Amino acid sequence: MKSLAGKRIVLGVSGGIAAYKAIELCRRLVDAGAHVVPVLTKGATRFVGRATFDALASERTQMSLFEEDDPIPHTTLGQTADCIVVAPATARVIGAYAAGISSDLLTATLIATRSPVVICPAMHTEMWEHPAVADNIATLIERGVHIVGPESGRLAGGDEGAGRLSSPADIVDAVIRAVGAASERQDMDGLSVVVTAGGTREPIDPVRFIGNHSSGKQGYAFADEAAGRGAEVTIVSTVDRPVPSGAAMVPGITVLRVDTAEEMAEATAEAAAEADVVIMAAAVADFRPVDPAGVKLKKRDGVPAIELEPTPDILAALGASKPEGQILVGFAAETCDVADNAAAKLNGKGADYIVANDVTAENAGFAYDTNEVLVLASDGRIHPVGLRSKRQVAQAVLDLVVADRDARASNQENQ
Ligand code: CTP
Repeated sequence: MKSLAGKRIVLGVSGGIAAYKAIELCRRLVDAGAHVVPVLTKGATRFVGRATFDALASERTQMSLFEEDDPIPHTTLGQTADCIVVAPATARVIGAYAAGISSDLLTATLIATRSPVVICPAMHTEMWEHPAVADNIATLIERGVHIVGPESGRLAGGDEGAGRLSSPADIVDAVIRAVGAASERQDMDGLSVVVTAGGTREPIDPVRFIGNHSSGKQGYAFADEAAGRGAEVTIVSTVDRPVPSGAAMVPGITVLRVDTAEEMAEATAEAAAEADVVIMAAAVADFRPVDPAGVKLKKRDGVPAIELEPTPDILAALGASKPEGQILVGFAAETCDVADNAAAKLNGKGADYIVANDVTAENAGFAYDTNEVLVLASDGRIHPVGLRSKRQVAQAVLDLVVADRDARASNQENQ
């Protein structure tokens, strides 16, 4: 069954440049089986047309508090929704919602509902970081509103910074969780999970490093999914990502920030000693400069000869000292012979599972929001997971981990 089948979702769109992404979001919600009712603010129609939403959604777009065929559309919308998602949510809509002010159909609907609400802010960094907006967001989180994003990246006008709307795939995942359609399960309740995320950085000198393209998205998706299912999660990460689904939705995530393979090895070993599940999603550099320069290397001194040495293999060390009952999940980033290379890593590093992906594949691997993987298990089975959001990949892998734990527990009972 589709994950939002039978669910009535009000899609609120307010006036920001990111409104164009709400079109893709609308389509994805419909694809997930939802009955989508778009509500556009006047500002939104400066960026996107209602005709587009009329064509894609399940009902025609609503904009006015004074519709001819319904004297009180906001209460009808609010009362019948299974979830209201606002994407993009401007500072104005967030402020009005936090203050309980209904100035148009969208803000009136937000106040006239008891359904879960998912707010996806998008605005310039200065606005996002303004104390008034920060206070309003804190108020909404306290009230149990789900906040998704914003992410950091390119903004309108060529600026860079925090304030970019989360991806439609991440927003759909958040809606699924908010309506409880997918993750009502608390099947990781009380488990301690350690996840590593991002690529390590090995210094050459104070300004340069050896690194890789890892964005940390897959690791954070694991952390989010495990926390959503009740686990206590520690992320050992080289990247600063917002805990994407919003602090209100996923309490129980601790982030330990590291840079190098050495630092990651130390932090992970300590956190993993007591963990039930360890997921090595990080892209660890295999080599590091033996002797990083204390001052910036100067061009005028010519091309430097940098002597390299291997970094510690964190996964292999965890595999060698795995406590009884712990499940260890590694990754394999490959560019060819994916299954064979991954099988060698599974056996060589003592992991229970290897999640293998071809990082050259379309829409999969580094920095994408989606992934396509093969999960190799130590019992010889191979589980292909087709192209889907990184959160859904995490869900599929954790389903295997939970089933494995259950099987081990019942084996023990039968002995
Ligand atoms: N890994 C690790 N420590 C390292 C290198 C890799 O813990 N120094 C982990 C990764 O986090 C991943 C798995 O080992 O879970 C496989 O990483 P990958 O980069 O695919 O393979 P490598 O072992 O580095 O081998 P190669 O680069 O030769 O493919």
